[in-house]
Amino acid sequence: MYMCGIIGYIGLKKASPILLKGLKNLEYRGYDSAGMAVLSSNGIEFRKGAGKIEEIERRLNFEELEGSIGIAHNRWATHGDVNDINAHPHFDCSKTIAIVHNGIIENYKELKESLSDHNFESETDSEVIAHLIEEELERGLSFEKAFMSAVSKLDGNYAILAIKADEEKILTARRGSPLVVGIADHGIFLSSDIPSFLEWTKKVVYLQDYDVVVVDRNGIRIHNLIEGEVSRPIDTVEWDAEQVKKGGFEHYMLKEIIEQTETIQRAIQQDEDVVKRIAEEIRRAYGTFFVGCGSSYHACLAGSYLFSKLAKTHVNVVLASEFENYEHFLTENTLVFAVSQSGETADVLEAVRTAKRKGSRVIGIVNRMGSSLTRESDQFLLMNAGPEICVLSTKTYTSQVALMTLLAYALLERHEECVEKFKELYMDIYNLTSRSMRDYLKRLAEMLADKEHIYLIGRGLQYATALEGALKIKEVSYIHAEAFAGGELKHGPLALIEKGTPVIVFVSKENEERILSNASEVKARGGFIIGISAERHEIFDYWIKVPECGDLNPIVQIIPIQILAYQLAVLRGLDPDKPRNLAKSVTVI
Ligand code: AGP
Repeated sequence: MYMCGIIGYIGLKKASPILLKGLKNLEYRGYDSAGMAVLSSNGIEFRKGAGKIEEIERRLNFEELEGSIGIAHNRWATHGDVNDINAHPHFDCSKTIAIVHNGIIENYKELKESLSDHNFESETDSEVIAHLIEEELERGLSFEKAFMSAVSKLDGNYAILAIKADEEKILTARRGSPLVVGIADHGIFLSSDIPSFLEWTKKVVYLQDYDVVVVDRNGIRIHNLIEGEVSRPIDTVEWDAEQVKKGGFEHYMLKEIIEQTETIQRAIQQDEDVVKRIAEEIRRAYGTFFVGCGSSYHACLAGSYLFSKLAKTHVNVVLASEFENYEHFLTENTLVFAVSQSGETADVLEAVRTAKRKGSRVIGIVNRMGSSLTRESDQFLLMNAGPEICVLSTKTYTSQVALMTLLAYALLERHEECVEKFKELYMDIYNLTSRSMRDYLKRLAEMLADKEHIYLIGRGLQYATALEGALKIKEVSYIHAEAFAGGELKHGPLALIEKGTPVIVFVSKENEERILSNASEVKARGGFIIGISAERHEIFDYWIKVPECGDLNPIVQIIPIQILAYQLAVLRGLDPDKPRNLAKSVTVI
């Protein structure tokens, strides 16, 4: 599970109300199901189920659970459907061990095979942790040693909380997923994030990767699987809960733009066999459609250029709201990719139903497990971007483009090469979202904040990027922003250019000469040229330096524009997370 929320409590108070409140404070991290387990005189008692916390709170009566030691979880599903059995906590065969987990266990299939005599209840990767601990206990190890041994077998990333009937303690471990300790005067908290317990204490201990922690009535002991026994300093949190949810940033939009260093890497963490099978389906299909709205449509357009240029494969790109005009082309041999981060966009769902009615096969590219699109598609790929709170799509857009790129490479049977190219992208994205880049773009925003119009031009892949950039700017700053294919300027839009008209020009090595020639048409009419490119060119009045990444340009080149759009909104006194008239998911036709 990625981007889930976990919280544990051991102390003097009844655990269930505290854990329930803690889950509600973590709801921004994931919310398709929730659950809780506590230690009581009868052993482990638990409640868990699919649905938002408010819905299942009434149905499951969490606060009936007695006991002052407990663990809880709310889920953003990445493995296994959204249903009661896949909700955390998960258990060993005898239900005397309970665990909650945030992260992805990459070797869970092999581990499950090695535990073939165990009875697994769920489809999740996480459940294997409880059975591993059980297996180690049966070898005579103590709970702590069994836990450490189990954790050391895991590949991937994890933040885990575990309890065992008849042992008054909580064990926890982290690698690659966040975990902090909260120290209150009445008890100790273990959680994915500080907002879960901030109302009870501001004293925190930040755990490091490979830390394993034992928390019992005597306090905390920290053992690092690499360094051995360690102690970690106690810090005091300065932020309030809302600021912490935003990672200390002023808005979710900026937090989610910066998360792209991680989310782009997560998007391509796909089961290679699944990707290969989808590539084979594309080869066999008689007609392939990419369908989406807004940013998702732009990702489809970028995908179509990649499929054409890289894999010499033709796909039809259609706005979901226009798809009905093409239904006479649909047959049982047609393959339709429905792209939607929310998985609830009514236009996309209507297109999916149209395709299904004609017997076509539908593959979803979606961020939310359990959404309508995951239920109505024949198959789906998850973007693993985690919840996107800002109304604007930023990290989910680049995740969609990353997945399209992966599929294009898979058509060439160059999956591994694509994964390696993305790994090399990590530092580029880190630098593009750095404080220095954000300050540099703020200076440009100050120059543009009072403009009435901003135009963007690009050719090929960069035309899709220009369209997405225009959407970002217009929907968050309310400045009229419009994108054109570079070659189209002379067919009309050039009439719009006056002295000082700002035009953002996306330059790639591949079409540098032609797009710079289009830019010179603008410059000759007095336009203000903002160049996005790996090299400075004489014609630029303002240069935004980005690395030349070839097929991956659509991912790197949109990031400065996401930041620019954000800065424009803030300079104009607007709330970037909630633009007027817009909704995060458009569930009406
Ligand atoms: C993009 O910033 C907007 N939020 C909007 O265009 C969005 O991309 C569109 O509504 C599609 O949403 P979906 O990906 O959830 O289907």
